[in-house]
Formats: sequence, C-alpha cells, structure tokens
Amino acid sequence: MIKKHVPDYIQTLTPYPPGKPIEELERELGITGSIKLASNENPLGPSPKALAAIEKRTKDLHRYPDGSSYYLKERLSQHLGVGSDHLVIGNGSNEIIEFLIRLLVRVGDEVVMGDPSFIVYRLINQAVGGKNVIIPLKDWNFDLDAMKAAITDRTRLVFIDCPNNPVGTTVKQSDFARFMEGLPEHLLVVLDEAYQDFVTDTNAVNFFSFMDKGHTVISLRTFSKAYGLSGLRVGYGIAAPGIMSMLERVRQPFNINSLAQAAATAALDDEQFLQHTLSITREGLSYLYGQFEEMGLSYVPSQTNFVLVDVGRPANEVYQAMLREGVIVRSMASYGLKTYERITVGTMKENERFIRALKKVLDKG
Ligand SMILES: Cc1ncc(COP(=O)(O)O)c(C=O)c1O
Repeated sequence: MIKKHVPDYIQTLTPYPPGKPIEELERELGITGSIKLASNENPLGPSPKALAAIEKRTKDLHRYPDGSSYYLKERLSQHLGVGSDHLVIGNGSNEIIEFLIRLLVRVGDEVVMGDPSFIVYRLINQAVGGKNVIIPLKDWNFDLDAMKAAITDRTRLVFIDCPNNPVGTTVKQSDFARFMEGLPEHLLVVLDEAYQDFVTDTNAVNFFSFMDKGHTVISLRTFSKAYGLSGLRVGYGIAAPGIMSMLERVRQPFNINSLAQAAATAALDDEQFLQHTLSITREGLSYLYGQFEEMGLSYVPSQTNFVLVDVGRPANEVYQAMLREGVIVRSMASYGLKTYERITVGTMKENERFIRALKKVLDKG
C-alpha cells in the first residue's frame, strides 16, 4: 500500500470541499434555473474582449503555450507600472500560494495566518508539513499585533488576505505600516489582493508603497473575480525581482494555457467591462445591506464582491433551505461561523431573488 509512504500531515488533511456542479444539484433537488452566489465569481460572465481573444487563439491549440507568458506580462507591466521582472503568473493566484510554500516551507516551518481567512493557505501548508499558526481575527479585522507576536525563527510566510475572504474587511495603510516596522527579514509577507479591484476605502493598504521601500512583500492578484475569468485560472504576483527569480525556479514551464494568456491580456483592455462589474457590485452591496437591515440581520460591511451575513439560524440548515429555493450561497459553518452565510453579489435580478428566498426561508416575508 502506498499509504505507508504518505506522511501523517497529509493523511490528516481535510481536502477543500468542492461544490457540486449546478446541473447535478438541480437534478437531485428536481429544480431548474437556480442561481449561484457562492464562489465570488463575476455575475456578468467573462469579459467580451477576453472571449473574442480566445476565439482567435483556438486554431493554435496544437502548440504549447508561451512558457513565459510574455505578452501577458508585458501588458500587466504597462497596466501596473512595474517592470515585467516584478511579475510571476500562476494558474490562478492559488498556484502562486503553492509556489511560495514550495519555495520556503520545509517540515516544521511556520506560516502565520488569520482565522477566518482564505482556507487554501492552511491546506497547502499542511500538505508540505508546515505548521499553521492561526491567529483569530479581532472585531472582523486581522489582529496584526498578535500576528507579529507569533513570528518566530521558524516563520517563513505571513498570509494576509486583504480584503479578507470570507469577511470582506481590508487592512489600513497605517496599521500595515506598523506591522511591517522592524519585521525580521527572514520571512515574506504575502498580501493576497484577490479582491483589490473592488476596494473603495481610500485608507486601505497600498502594496506598492511597501514594495518600493524594499520590504519583503508580495502581492497576489487574480483575473478570477473582477475580470470574470475564474474558469481559465490566471493570477499573478507582484514583488521585487529578487523574489520573482526564486519563484520562477519552482514554476513548471507551461503552467498558463494559451487561451488563458490571450484572454487575460485582452481583459486588461476591457475597461468598460471592469467598470460595469464594479458599479453593479456597489449597487448590489448597498441593496443587500438595506435589505439585511430591514430584516434585522447583522452583516459585515464589505470591500469585496461578497458579504458575510448573520442569518441567526444554523448556517447549514439555511444553506440547504436556500438550495431548495434554487439559490446557492456559501455556509460559513465550516469556518466556525455557525450562523453565517457568505453571499456573492449577483446581478440585481439575482440579488432580489436571493432576498425573496431568504425572507421565505427565515419566515420574514
Ligand atoms: C482571498 C483569495 N485569494 C485567492 C483566491 C484564489 O483565486 P484564483 O482563482 O486566482 O486562484 C481566492 C478565491 O476565491 C480568494 O478568495
């Protein structure tokens, strides 16, 4: 049996719970036309410019992709105002989390993270025998003092998802500056900015100001959210060239497929799509806040395209009842938030349908 060669830290890992395909859920429940507000995807679909770029590239599918993602890096470099030697491209930003851990973490090394925060950090770290040092949030924000106090000689990485998934809060520039002050240089601070495009708080952390000052930091970003390309899997990291040249060593050559490269490059030119996405998200959030307030439900004001709401009942039960109404949300019970759901902002029609279903399920109609 190969099992005897699989270390305990892998055998005890609880895999990421995949959602069922919508079609399968509908078949099981005997419903049709359900809506998915569960994975923080873009309800508008993919960027039309990205779709057009994909069509053009399909005739080259017999060729391997460009192993350096040259054009995507060039376009990103122009978009961000940094040299392309400051960039690494991943198969989703998830893959860059994997690069970071593969590069820096050996058995028994420590990685500091918040709780709740993005679940993938702890899964990937545990898979290589790293120790997860998990610091509870304080009032829905990272407890940066406690995270700093948890740093030891064995700490290799600190993950701060900013804004945080599943809470939706961001970190203030001044708080992050205080956190970075005097931090030992043997560790890398990861600002996971998957939802950065949605942030409206002008006091939120500005990653570039820290990279420019020579701090050991990396930002992770993605085309999965505001650009509507989750299915293609493209994310990127921004950091000093010295960090990037190390990450490039653990990246396999053809990690970004050619359609994904073409689509992501084109999506950066689709300003209209991005602005439309941001405006329906803001409109949707304010609608949801208003409805939650009318229903007497508390929620955490969000800097993202999702909102965490306390439904005041067991989260899994409400999730199941919502499913039967054809509305898929994300129960937060597995994050230890026993009465919370995380709702991705949809189109206004979807948001209204979600509220109707929630009122019915909670008997608040
Ligand atoms: C905080 C955070 N980081 C990273 C990701 C992963 O994004 P990607 O699709 O680029 O792998 C997500 C996706 O939900 C996320 O919420």
